[in-house]
Parts: sequence; C-alpha cells; structure tokens
Amino acid sequence: MANNMRPADMKRINTPDLAEAFIKEQVEAVRKQVGDKKVLLALSGGVDSSVVAALLIRAIGKQLVCVHVNHGLMRKGESEQVVEVFRNQMDANLVYVDAADRFLDLLEGVDEPERKRRIIGGEFIKVFEEEARKLEGIDFLAQGTIYPDILESDGVKAHHNVGGLPDDFDFELVEPVRLLFKDEVRCVGHALGLPASMVERQPFPGPGLGVRCLGAITRDRLAALRESDAILREEFAAAGLADKVWQFFTVVPDFRSTGVRDGRRAFDWPVIIRAVNTVDAMTAAVPEIDWAVLKKITGRILAEVPGVCRVLYDLTPKPVGTIEWE
Ligand code: XMP
Repeated sequence: MANNMRPADMKRINTPDLAEAFIKEQVEAVRKQVGDKKVLLALSGGVDSSVVAALLIRAIGKQLVCVHVNHGLMRKGESEQVVEVFRNQMDANLVYVDAADRFLDLLEGVDEPERKRRIIGGEFIKVFEEEARKLEGIDFLAQGTIYPDILESDGVKAHHNVGGLPDDFDFELVEPVRLLFKDEVRCVGHALGLPASMVERQPFPGPGLGVRCLGAITRDRLAALRESDAILREEFAAAGLADKVWQFFTVVPDFRSTGVRDGRRAFDWPVIIRAVNTVDAMTAAVPEIDWAVLKKITGRILAEVPGVCRVLYDLTPKPVGTIEWE
C-alpha cells in the first residue's frame, strides 16, 4: 500500500485551489490503482466516508459501490440525506440497507453501555459483510481513514468499536484522504460540492443515538430522542450557534418524572440537553447558551415531542462528566 506518512513538505490544504489540486492528484492516483475494477465503500454519511465517496465518484463513477447501513440509530433525516445526495444528486451506485429492526431487536433489554456498543459495532460489520457477499467482482475496499486515525490508532478508524471484516475478505484498500487532517477533509468536501450540512457535521458516535437513549433502548424513547435532537439542532442553527458550539445533542434517560398536562397528571420522560466546547474532546466546557434560546427549545420539545414532560440543561464540564452520557 502507498505511504502512510505525511511528507514534511506537504502543504496544509486550506483553500479551494489547494483542494482542487489535491482532488485532481487523487483522482489520477485512484484511477491508476483501481483500473476498471470495482470498489466497495461503507458510507455512513459522516464527513470522512462522504468525502471519500464524492472523490471516488469523481474518479471512477459507477465502479464505486456504496453501502449505507441504516442501523435505526441515525439522527433525523440523516439516512435520507445520504440517499438524496449520493443516489439522486451524484448518481452513485448506492445500496441502501434498512436494518433498523434488526439492530433494535438485538438491543432489546440490553442496558449496559459497552455491551450496547459491541452489539451495534458487531452487527454493523455483519450487515456490511452480508451485503458485500451479495456483490460480485469487488477487488477494492475504500475507507475514510484520515491522518489522526493513522497517528492515534494504528490506522483503524476510531469508531469501528468492534473487530473488522472477516479474514477471507481479501480486499486491497483505497484510502485517498489518509494523509489529511479533519479540516483538510472538510475543505476537500466543499470543493467536491457536498452540502455544508454534511461537510461541517459535528462529531457523531458510531453507535449513534444508541448511547443517548440511555439504558435499554425502546422505540418510543428513541423516537423522543430523535425528535428532540432535531429540534435542538434546528434552534441552534437558527440562533447562529451551530458552528460555534462543538457538539450538542439531547439525551433521553430511562426513568420518568411527574408532570401536569391539560390539567391531568403526566408521568413522562425528561430530555437532557448536552452542549460542549472542546479542542480535542479530552476536556470540555459547557457554553453559556442564551436563556431565550434554551427557553424556546424547551417550549418546542414540550409541545412537539410526545412522552416528554421535562427538559434539563447539563452543566457538567469534562472532567468530571464525559461528553456522552453512556
Ligand atoms: P466522551 O463521552 O468520551 O466523548 O467524553 C468524547 C468524544 O467521543 C465521542 N464518542 C464516541 N465516538 N464511538 C464513537 O465513534 C463511541 O462509542 C463514542 N463514545 C463517545 C463523543 O461523541 C465525543 O465526541
């Protein structure tokens, strides 16, 4: 495989011109590496895999086969956006797998966070493997490995929490952004014409909403989580906070609290808002969000999300609290 060390004289890709030059160079390199063979890519819709997909579509068009596994733990609208951008707009060869029921059935009753992670990661590999076996004549596997993955985790993408593909999968790797830092990947993504909402996306854990629907995941709490998270994102964007706060999301715990709704006693879930600023995710501070914004979000969640009767804002810095709740 090609060199995995960033040459000392490699320029930081931080302008559209440098991004274009990088794309041109990689398009040629990929065409040379792959020839007329087919390439497989697990396309999550995250920044790295999306940029690799767009780059490879430019280089080899339909020789790229993207597989998007919807594990049912995506944020609202994310899987739909993958289909819209890659299949409808970029005319990609995209296999969309709705595996939500499979994941949720397996997760039923499982409340231990690391077990949940292992189940989600393990099942993801299984579904991807099954899809890959259905396809014929694939010689290459593309991955959105970026330079920090190489520096920090032996070239394994950090969110692959469990294992990898089976040994009999004898693919040659195609990793066109492996020497880039995150900001450079984003710069290349813009140059490739991907939507800003995809390229500037905040970090989202591999296990997705699965570790934010606390304890044993239920479909109704998962729906409350997805809706409240969408409201939070919408209101942060409207208030100009979406690119100022590093990561923000909601959490739904697995206990209820009393309330009154329409003159009657309610016994529903709380929603917790988590927002943090950080440089490296090792420590994090909680931003002081404008009271009016928090009040508006609270009002909307209480009015629009069924089964929720209380909204909280988490004031805990890291340390002591981690960014995620599980
Ligand atoms: P914590 O909760 O450890 O999170 O303070 C630090 C950063 O890592 C993300 N995170 C994960 N990412 N798989 C991932 O891909 C995971 O299992 C996972 N757990 C936490 C978290 O969202 C934050 O950005």
